[in-house]
Amino acid sequence: MTYKPIDITAVGILMLEHRQIERVIEVMKTELEITNKEARAKPEFIDIAIDFIRTYADKSHHGKEEQIFFRDLYKKNIAKKHKDYIDLLVAEHKQGRETVGQLEATKEKYLKGDSGALNEIKECMKWLIDFYPQHIEKEDKHFFALYREYLNEEEQDKMLAECLEFDSTGIREKYKDIIARLKKVK
Ligand SMILES: [Fe+2]
Ligand SMILES: [Fe+2]
Repeated sequence: MTYKPIDITAVGILMLEHRQIERVIEVMKTELEITNKEARAKPEFIDIAIDFIRTYADKSHHGKEEQIFFRDLYKKNIAKKHKDYIDLLVAEHKQGRETVGQLEATKEKYLKGDSGALNEIKECMKWLIDFYPQHIEKEDKHFFALYREYLNEEEQDKMLAECLEFDSTGIREKYKDIIARLKKVK
């Protein structure tokens, strides 16, 4: 007999990950205020934030959304407005990815002494700080509940098993102290 975890759903996992991303965004917000006040960036902070967004928020979290959840919905005969919503969310993931790339390139320019780089760093940070909460709200409030509408219980269980398998590389463990690491940077 196979036992399945009680009260855990794939969407529940995704929503818990949203809470973790929000915590990091809150720290970034404080950091942006400090950057504005002190007129200097902290490259070490930016590196940790970039690594978190790339690995946890994008590879692991957006990865599960795109490669498992959205894929499963796409296989169903879903309404056009829901397909369009998936396309919008995926396009937003891409924009997030591009901004992180831009933040990294700008940080490199800053390290080389480029005087205009600080403003660009602030713009990228501001963009990410504004982006994540609105993207998360779209998913949490307007999209995630659809899984019950389109996927039967067996399909939901399969999705959960795949989500649990997706992160078997210890990503959760690696990022559990992320806030402490970000706050330690002077
Ligand atoms: Fe997303
Ligand atoms: Fe998400």
